[in-house]
Amino acid sequence: MLVSAKEMLQKAKAGKYAVGQFNINNLEWTKAILLTAQELKSPVILGVSEGAGKYMTGYKTVVGMVNGMMEELNITVPVALHLDHGSYEGCMKCIEAGFSSIMFDGSHFPIDENVEKTTELVKICAEKGMSLEAEVGSIGGEEDGVIGKGECADPQECKKIADLGVTMLAAGIGNIHGKYPANWEGLSFETLQAVSELTGDMPLVLHGGTGIPEDQIKKAISLGVAKINVNTECQLSFAAATRKYIEEGKDLQGKGFDPRKLLAPGTEAIKATVKEKMELFGSIGKAE
Ligand code: 13P
Repeated sequence: MLVSAKEMLQKAKAGKYAVGQFNINNLEWTKAILLTAQELKSPVILGVSEGAGKYMTGYKTVVGMVNGMMEELNITVPVALHLDHGSYEGCMKCIEAGFSSIMFDGSHFPIDENVEKTTELVKICAEKGMSLEAEVGSIGGEEDGVIGKGECADPQECKKIADLGVTMLAAGIGNIHGKYPANWEGLSFETLQAVSELTGDMPLVLHGGTGIPEDQIKKAISLGVAKINVNTECQLSFAAATRKYIEEGKDLQGKGFDPRKLLAPGTEAIKATVKEKMELFGSIGKAE
């Protein structure tokens, strides 16, 4: 059964490790992430962007697939199904469809409007036992057409949003979605420290997990990050493994064109990436 991300993230914050949010795109992605989490006894969050939700034909399909898969695969570790960077309307649809967690990305609204909409969602999520992520200070890069500049959040605004009763808070600290440019300045630990001090026990969320050097990930966790989002890295490893399979001409040998064979190396590659991240984030064995 899907669970809210609240308990797993509060435990992670207290235990100084982070739970990975891995974004899903289809059946292979979902299967690879769930099986890895179960094998490694790690809690996990399945992220679904609005674009990926649409791609999978809608949120109800996603809920049906994930619930069915958890039952058929006997997944017993805590799993949250989470809307990533949701609009207000997207949040409503996911609440209705049976997600266990949502992110309302009000970072592009003036702070008062972000507060107003977040407040409404805090109330609904509390009634439904769902977790809610809010965002302050947009995350840079491009994700499903949403473009952010990678600004640093204002710590006072973070406190204002955290005090509304959200479950976890994404604060921009110079992180961006996708690959980091060569001239990237790195995470702003000064901002993270200030946000952390003002928001106390609130689990903080680090978006744009792809390509952040290991030492910066570890430092971010030590300063209160308890959820780290990874999307692009799984896409890159899936694509590289699939490319290798085709370039080696394996699709032309025997029944190598069968999608169950063609997509297998990519699926294994996602598993390896998820495992590597869970090791780095320290979440292995935390679901025992
Ligand atoms: P990456 O694609 O950079 O890993 O970012 C994922 C993310 O933050 C999803 O919200």
